[in-house]
Amino acid sequence: MKNLPMLLLLCVVVCSAYPLKGAARDDSMDLAQHYLEKYYHLAKDVKQFVRRKDSGPVVKKIREMQKFLGLEVTGKLDSETLAVMRMPRCGVPDVADFSTFPGMPKWTETGLTYRIVNYTLDLPRDAVDSAIKKALKVWEEVTPLTFSRIYKGEADIMITFAAREHGDLVPFDGPGMVLAHAFAPGPGINGDAHFDDDEKWTKDTSGTNLFLVAAHELGHSLGLFHSANSEALMYPVYNPLTDLARFRLSQDDVNGIQSLYGPPPASPDDPVVPTESVPPEMPDMCDPTLSFDAVSTLRGEILFFKDRHFWRRSLSIPEPGFYLISSFWPSLPSGVDAAYEVTIRDIVFIFKGKQFWAIRGNEEEAGYPRGIQTLGFPPTIKKIDAAVFDKGKKKTYFFVEDKYWRFDEKKQSMDPGFPRKIVEDFPGVEPKVNAVFEAFGFFYFISGSSQLQFDPNAKKVTHILKSNSWFNC
Ligand SMILES: *[C@@H]1O[C@H](CO)[C@@H](O)[C@H](O)[C@H]1NC(C)=O
Ligand SMILES: [Zn+2]
Repeated sequence: MKNLPMLLLLCVVVCSAYPLKGAARDDSMDLAQHYLEKYYHLAKDVKQFVRRKDSGPVVKKIREMQKFLGLEVTGKLDSETLAVMRMPRCGVPDVADFSTFPGMPKWTETGLTYRIVNYTLDLPRDAVDSAIKKALKVWEEVTPLTFSRIYKGEADIMITFAAREHGDLVPFDGPGMVLAHAFAPGPGINGDAHFDDDEKWTKDTSGTNLFLVAAHELGHSLGLFHSANSEALMYPVYNPLTDLARFRLSQDDVNGIQSLYGPPPASPDDPVVPTESVPPEMPDMCDPTLSFDAVSTLRGEILFFKDRHFWRRSLSIPEPGFYLISSFWPSLPSGVDAAYEVTIRDIVFIFKGKQFWAIRGNEEEAGYPRGIQTLGFPPTIKKIDAAVFDKGKKKTYFFVEDKYWRFDEKKQSMDPGFPRKIVEDFPGVEPKVNAVFEAFGFFYFISGSSQLQFDPNAKKVTHILKSNSWFNC
C-alpha cells in the first residue's frame, strides 16, 4: 500500500444489512472493534476494549462515531449504535469533518472524460451505460463539469467491473461486504471507480443498485469525502430504501461539490441574476404566479416542466411528485421549451432551442437530439413555444409566437398552408403560449400564470384557470 498515492482513499460499501449471524456479545464487540478501527482510526492495539470501563480512546471513538452519524452521544455500545454499525455503508473512514479529501484534490479541467472499460453480466449493457450516465449527470447538473464518454484510451474516470484481485492492490472480497471503491481526482488510477463484480447489480434496489452506488462513488472520483448529514448522498451509510424516482442531491452534497468547482454557468436563456453558490430554491407549486416551461401528458399522467425539475401529476394520486428531469432522462436539457406526447407511438417529444429529444416512459430514444428543421420548420425558427398532439385528428400543433404549424403524425410531414395565425383557429388564445397539453378532450393553454381551457370542437375557450390549478392548491 505504501506506493499508492497519498490520497488514495478506498470506498467500501458493506452491502448486507445483517452481515453477522447471531449477535452474540463477542460478535458485537468484534464488530465494534473492527468498525472503529476501519472507519474511525481506532489504534489496532486497543484490545478487549469494551470490557474495560475506562477505555478512554474507545469511548472517545464511540462518541465520535455517534456524533458523526447523528446518534445520541452516549459513549456506549448501546443497541442503536450497534444496529448502525451493522448497516450497509461506504468504507471511506468518517474521521474527517469536512466534505472533501484532505488536500482538496480536484480536477483542474471542467471537461472530463469517462470510459466504461468493461461490464457486469448482471445487467444489459445499456442499463449500465444509463446508470453511469445518470450518476454523472447528478454532479454535472450542479457544477460546471461536463463528462464525455470515450471508448478507448485513458479517460479521467475509468470504470471497471472486476472481482477479487484486479490490479490495484485493493482486491475485492467476493459477494457482499465491499461493493465498490473509487479514487480521488488525479492522474492514473486516481478518479477511477471499480465495482465488485461478485455483487448482484440491479436497476432497482432488489440487489445492489448500480446508479446509487455509482453516484456516491463518482462523488469520491470528483473529490468529495463523506458527509455527516444523513440526507446526503455522500453520507457513508448506503441506503437501499432510497426512493430512486425521487432521488435528488441534498443541499449538503451541492454545497460540498460547489466548494470545489462552483455552480454551473448560467445558460444564455437564464435571466441575469447574481449567481450564488446555492441553486435556485424549489419553486412553490402553490405560488399563484407560477408558470411552466412546458407541459405534456405521459401515459395518462401530466408532466409540468419548470427549469431543471418537473411535477408529475397522476390523476389517481392527489399530491403531485416533484423530480429532477435528469433523474429520469439524463440527456434532456433543463429549461425546455415545449413537450408533447404522441399517444399512438407512446413517445414524448421534448424541445429546446432548435433541437428535440424523444423519450418512451423513462427511457431515452436513440438517435436524438435532432434538429427541428427535420420536422419541416424553416431555419428562421429558433424555438418552439408549445406543442400538443390532437389524438382525434392525429395532428400536432406547434405554437411559435403568434403563429402555429400543423404536423401530420401519420405522414410525418408538415401540412401545407401553415403557419397560420393562432387567433384565427384558436379564438381567445393569446399569443404567446408557454405550454399546452390535452386532457379530457380539451386543450389547456398556459400563458404565464393563467390557463385557458379550450374546446377544440366548439373552437372556443370554455374556462379560465390558474396555471397551477392541477395541483389542488
Ligand atoms: C475488467 O477490467 C479489469 C481491469 O483490466 C479486469 O481486472 C477485470 O477482470 C475486467 N472485468 C471483466 C468483467 O472483464
Ligand atoms: Zn464513500
